[in-house]
Amino acid sequence: MHSLSKWAVLSALATWLQLSIAAPAEHQPRAAAASCNLSNKETWDYIVVGSGPGGLTMADRLSEAGHKVLLLEKGPPSTGRWGGTMKAPWLQNTNLTRFDVPGLCNQIWADRNGIACTDYDQLAGCVLGGGVAINSGLYWKPHPDDWNMSFPPGWKDDDMKTAVDKVFTRLPGTMYPSRDGKLYLPQGYNMLSAGLTQGGWKSIDANVQNDQRNRTFSHTIYYFADGERHGPLATYLVTANARKNFAFWTGAGVKRVVRTGSKVTGVEVECGGSSGVINVTPNTGRVIVSAGTFGSAKILWRSGIGPTDVLNTVKSSSDGSSMISSDQWINLPVGYNLYDHVGTDLEVAHSSVVNYDFYGAWSRPIQSDSQLYLNSRSGILAQSAPNFGPMFWDIVTPADGINRHFHWQARVEGSRSTSMTLTQYLGTGSVSRGRLTINNQLKTIVSQSPYLNDANDKAAVIQGVQNLRDALSKVSGLTWVRPTASQTSTAFVNSIPSNPGSRNSNHWIGTNRMGADDGRVSGGKAVVDLNTKVYGTDNLFVVDASIFPGHITSNPTAAILAVAEQAAIKILAL
Ligand SMILES: Cc1cc2nc3c(=O)[nH]c(=O)nc-3n(C[C@H](O)[C@H](O)[C@H](O)COP(=O)(O)OP(=O)(O)OC[C@H]3O[C@@H](n4cnc5c(N)ncnc54)[C@H](O)[C@@H]3O)c2cc1C
Ligand SMILES: *[C@@H]1O[C@H](CO)[C@@H](O)[C@H](O)[C@H]1NC(C)=O
Ligand SMILES: *[C@@H]1O[C@H](CO)[C@@H](O)[C@H](O)[C@H]1NC(C)=O
Ligand SMILES: *[C@@H]1O[C@H](CO)[C@@H](O)[C@H](O)[C@H]1NC(C)=O
Ligand SMILES: *[C@@H]1O[C@H](CO)[C@@H](O)[C@H](O)[C@H]1NC(C)=O
Repeated sequence: MHSLSKWAVLSALATWLQLSIAAPAEHQPRAAAASCNLSNKETWDYIVVGSGPGGLTMADRLSEAGHKVLLLEKGPPSTGRWGGTMKAPWLQNTNLTRFDVPGLCNQIWADRNGIACTDYDQLAGCVLGGGVAINSGLYWKPHPDDWNMSFPPGWKDDDMKTAVDKVFTRLPGTMYPSRDGKLYLPQGYNMLSAGLTQGGWKSIDANVQNDQRNRTFSHTIYYFADGERHGPLATYLVTANARKNFAFWTGAGVKRVVRTGSKVTGVEVECGGSSGVINVTPNTGRVIVSAGTFGSAKILWRSGIGPTDVLNTVKSSSDGSSMISSDQWINLPVGYNLYDHVGTDLEVAHSSVVNYDFYGAWSRPIQSDSQLYLNSRSGILAQSAPNFGPMFWDIVTPADGINRHFHWQARVEGSRSTSMTLTQYLGTGSVSRGRLTINNQLKTIVSQSPYLNDANDKAAVIQGVQNLRDALSKVSGLTWVRPTASQTSTAFVNSIPSNPGSRNSNHWIGTNRMGADDGRVSGGKAVVDLNTKVYGTDNLFVVDASIFPGHITSNPTAAILAVAEQAAIKILAL
């Protein structure tokens, strides 16, 4: 009997005896966030709002530079290390939560209660770590065009090299998430990679040959390590938390920044039913908003920064009486430039494919699999459920001459037991955009869908689908479920509505666009300047996915970390 089950027996015994005994050290969180404390009247050089990949990086780099930093997160702790408590039954009496186990990442689709933000009309994580607590961990190096095509001067590929290197030094990522180094259920990968090879696509080392993303493929790479989620919560937050000049609070939702004209003096925080103001250091203090594409826009609006129509809606809400007066409003295009990878799902079936019941693994795991995981962090449950097909890339140039970059992800799931779902994501080069607004209940709303409202974006998606069908056309025994063999790629793409319900990839960006074109001026589109500072303010910054001018051709985490590394360099130099 190993120690975990011994503890389980002891613990059951203790409950029965109505005793309360402390858990042995290995079952306790190794550190824990403090709760929100409004009686604490200390001031802070930097207040960072939101603990997604953007906020975690900022908290670490700013505290590393010796500044006194407070990180405020509105959600509860997530991973075991930080005192999270949400667990599958078989994780009771371990230091692991649902967030730690890669094989349980799909559970977000079954149960998101107490995890997903309730004040957005789209999915986002409102827990410590934000998206990096709940996502699938897919993670690889951006292509040079990701920076070169839409990012402004100072943020081009050549400028980003140091920042990208810092990220991949800390979080190298792995293709072999199981600690025993084996790939479990690789049949789907094997079938598709053989098919792509036959179709003329080439295998690449994706984090080295990151400039070769045209008809290439690779094993999927994840930021996981040691069979656990790992990632920014186990790196950036760990080093930040070891410093005396750093604190972080969970359960601390920021309502707005408190400002007088262009100068921010603090933030108004809501915690446990009360609210109060936490101030930055007089004269020199700064606030970094890293609350994500929806959350950061919302904080700016509630602080009187945004387009007049949206600010009037906030004024008409429960915020009205306390909102900063309209003569202090800063008119910026917050909420425009909304984008997300356009997701187009294809489905194939092949007799070689073996799937796994990851949803069943929540309450009825196969005993040998859960034991292998608990004992040695190995096996199928150490893999990102069910994202272990190959990832592959393609570049298409439609009539407007602008290259459209695609990445594809392959999941071992679909309508048949031998299905794989192949999702095409349109990233770099897309020109379609939508708009985010808010209603008078203060819920953010995707009021204009960002998907395929440009004819060349759509033509590129159709061509990309056709390219993949051509590439896989010689795979014997492959059944096309979606599109069917007889449906044209055009008819197939046209049959899928271009709205979030059918297309969303949960890779939202862009509502606080970064650029040299000050959005207060007619024709200007930017909300933050090239140092990530909000136009019209002295000391308010935004650092997260919301400042991306355009999308990248990767799942976003790696690029957000790199953008935050770069932002930290620029902000510290101001
Ligand atoms: C289901 C799902 C799967 C995904 N899969 C992948 C993947 O495999 N790979 C990948 O790279 N990306 C993936 N993504 C996307 C990725 O997780 C996000 O792009 C990324 O987390 C965004 O980072 P961010 O720092 O901009 O904001 P977020 O991660 O959204 O973090 C914002 C944080 O701010 C907090 N917050 C919000 N408002 C306030 C407030 N008023 N006061 C205090 N705190 C606040 C939130 O609680 C949250 O913790 C996925 C996303 C989802 C939802
Ligand atoms: C809250 O802050 C006050 C003032 O610094 C301090 O005295 C008190 O102990 C803190 N409460 C908790 C629960 O940490
Ligand atoms: C759980 O504890 C083990 C053993 O101490 C440690 O290796 C592992 O990293 C811990 N995991 C978490 C999520 O804290
Ligand atoms: C990116 O653009 C810069 C100029 O801004 C150029 O020097 C560099 O060669 C470009 N890189 C690639 C890989 O295209
Ligand atoms: C991508 O590859 C295709 C097929 O080889 C080629 O026709 C196209 O020019 C390439 N595009 C770019 C931008 O390299």
